[in-house]
Amino acid sequence: MAEKNIIPEHVAMIMDGNGRWAKKQGKERVFGHNEGIESVRACTEYAVEKGIKYLSLFAFSEENWNRPKEEVDVLMEYMLKAIANETPLFKKNEIKFIVIGNICRLSESLKNEIDTCMKNTQNNKRLTLIIYLSYSGKWDIIQAAYKFFQDNKSKNEINLTPEIFERYLSTAGIPDPDLLIRTGGEQRISNFMLWQTAYTDYYFTDILWPDFRKIEFQQALDAFSQRDRRFGKV
Ligand code: IPE
Ligand code: IPE
Ligand code: MG
Repeated sequence: MAEKNIIPEHVAMIMDGNGRWAKKQGKERVFGHNEGIESVRACTEYAVEKGIKYLSLFAFSEENWNRPKEEVDVLMEYMLKAIANETPLFKKNEIKFIVIGNICRLSESLKNEIDTCMKNTQNNKRLTLIIYLSYSGKWDIIQAAYKFFQDNKSKNEINLTPEIFERYLSTAGIPDPDLLIRTGGEQRISNFMLWQTAYTDYYFTDILWPDFRKIEFQQALDAFSQRDRRFGKV
């Protein structure tokens, strides 16, 4: 039988294991976050190469604000630097850059950098790279419910369907992920895209995020190709 080669339209990734990667080499956790940026670059380039249209990367959860301040500060500093440094790559590869999350919690300088990068790349069509910053799935559903209520509070009768509700999620207009990859060995969703992953295929690997590069990404894509997605049908 011929091997199937199905390229997912939208791949989401929970980039986990940076701290343990650093610890294994006797270094501070932040060293792993720095190395993890190389994996982001490699996976983004590979997504472009493979013709994936959307790449969603979970970079910082709402719960991650509860980490020690020093680690959060360094993470935010790396984020800012990475966005500034990667802008030429986004141009070269026609990547549209988007940030999703409860961004009012971010610093003004980071918000400005994000804003500039989003504006500079908004017309790019090859790959949409979505970074989830200060994001949680529950936050997303609640902010959507709140906006829906604001739009409909004067109405006597409310018609709410999944299709209508989705227009209020922060991912409105973006198709649901076909494949969700989680590195670092844990097999949980950690409050990532709760609504959007209803029919997503999961791929868990023990590989720590800084070690997850093109070969490892390809292995996940190969596994996905062999899956049979039925969406409730026979
Ligand atoms: C993922 O790596 C990066 C973030 C959550 C910001 P971790 O920092 O969670 O690394 P581990 O899981 O502790 O090894
Ligand atoms: C999930 O990793 C969040 C991100 C990768 C941004 P965590 O390290 O925060 O997840 P838990 O705490 O192990 O569930
Ligand atoms: Mg972790």
